[in-house]
Amino acid sequence: MQLREAATAAAVVLSLSIFLLSSSTDAHNITRILAKYPELSTFNHYLTVTQLAPEINRRETITVCAVDNGGMSDLLSKHLTIGAIKNVLSLHVLLDYFDAKKLHQITDGTALAATMYQATGSAAGSAGFVNITDLKGGKVGFSPQDNGGVVSATFVKSVEAIPYNISVIQISSILPSSEAEAPAPGPSEANLTALLSAHGCKVFAETLLANPAQQTFESNVESGLTVFCPGDDAMKAFLPKYKNLTADGKQSLLEYHAIPIYQSLPGLKSSNGLTNTLATDGARQFHFTVQNDGTDVTIKTKIVTAKIVNTLIDEQPLAIYELNKVLIPVELFKGALPPAPAPAPVADAPKASKKHKSPPAPAGPSDSPADAPDGDVADQTADSNGAVRFDGGRFGAVILGLWFVFLQM
Ligand SMILES: *[C@@H]1O[C@H](CO)[C@@H](O)[C@H](O)[C@H]1NC(C)=O
Ligand SMILES: *[C@@H]1O[C@H](CO)[C@@H](O)[C@H](O)[C@H]1NC(C)=O
Ligand SMILES: *[C@@H]1O[C@H](CO)[C@@H](O)[C@H](O)[C@H]1NC(C)=O
Ligand SMILES: *[C@@H]1O[C@H](CO)[C@@H](O)[C@H](O)[C@H]1NC(C)=O
Ligand SMILES: *[C@@H]1O[C@H](CO)[C@@H](O)[C@H](O)[C@H]1NC(C)=O
Repeated sequence: MQLREAATAAAVVLSLSIFLLSSSTDAHNITRILAKYPELSTFNHYLTVTQLAPEINRRETITVCAVDNGGMSDLLSKHLTIGAIKNVLSLHVLLDYFDAKKLHQITDGTALAATMYQATGSAAGSAGFVNITDLKGGKVGFSPQDNGGVVSATFVKSVEAIPYNISVIQISSILPSSEAEAPAPGPSEANLTALLSAHGCKVFAETLLANPAQQTFESNVESGLTVFCPGDDAMKAFLPKYKNLTADGKQSLLEYHAIPIYQSLPGLKSSNGLTNTLATDGARQFHFTVQNDGTDVTIKTKIVTAKIVNTLIDEQPLAIYELNKVLIPVELFKGALPPAPAPAPVADAPKASKKHKSPPAPAGPSDSPADAPDGDVADQTADSNGAVRFDGGRFGAVILGLWFVFLQM
């Protein structure tokens, strides 16, 4: 009796864990969907470049209006900034589900669809809406709402439909929008240190202002920059050590807190691994490792693991995230590798970090030499235990499930 109850529980746990595993693979992946259509490859490429792809994957009940490579070259010939291309393409993602059938059966023959461009908040007035109209002869027309009633593109074909999560259709050309194409007066034109100051990284901003590193930051904003600024408390506590550094060391430490590309949070989550920083220069590695920890994103050096606690700015080409700790590069603080940890964690540490490094771990940590396990003992203990608990749960379910199968035989 008890055995049977346990077996039932095991079966429930097992099917639950299968459900959890498979539901994450069920979510649509626009990159994979479009990859099957070579004529849409440029559109697909730019969804990735503009980081719209992860945003599309995150949403449900949407319609992506793709255009073929010819349509994309018309857009690209305008030599827009990547931010403007992102705006234009986000106008092609409707926040409702329209497959071929629904398009041809629109109530009263016309509908207004909000787009992802509208959702960014940077579209003025009705510029973020697309007007869909059933035309004579069974055609369906698309135009931006601010297009003066001129139909600018027509429905070509249905590419893929997964009701009611995502419909991918092809339309005849890019929807024109002077609003979306205008180079957004984005944060690139704002003063970086002023932005940092205003959003909770005042101490870091003041430190940066007094250092040549400021120019390195400013000169990278336009082409893409992601800043990881330590919050005020963390930075204040670190200042005595900072003041102890050489001039060169100070500059490197500050430049270690940014990477020379724009990365959205979903982008960081999907590109875990060893990363160059602004301080990276030839033999001077100044790497850190981006690694997911559950739903958080952590930045690991050999000495410290910091966590992203807040998104201050995320607007291409600039992203600014707040960290709970200062990133301490081993290049400047070799002597600061943590001393042997307290007795209790020691017993657990080797097991934990071994598990943490095993291939099925969710984040797939980088195994480059610079990521040798020796350093980050103190910080890794806590994180690894978390990861072990997670893995352990799933592992336990499988064991129980196997045992259930065994009982059935
Ligand atoms: C739709 O999306 C949800 C959540 O991602 C998923 O559970 C469901 O299986 C998807 N439906 C289809 C038909 O893929
Ligand atoms: C989506 O598919 C592409 C191409 O197959 C792959 O590189 C990418 O990692 C996938 N993204 C997710 C979130 O699964
Ligand atoms: C869409 O545009 C057409 C043509 O300008 C117009 O007649 C129709 O009312 C518009 N639909 C909506 C929902 O605004
Ligand atoms: C940015 O603003 C700060 C004051 O917050 C000022 O000292 C600095 O000179 C400004 N930098 C630029 C490039 O305008
Ligand atoms: C600064 O450097 C000196 C000499 O290396 C060292 O003794 C001192 O502890 C350092 N101070 C801090 C706050 O790191």
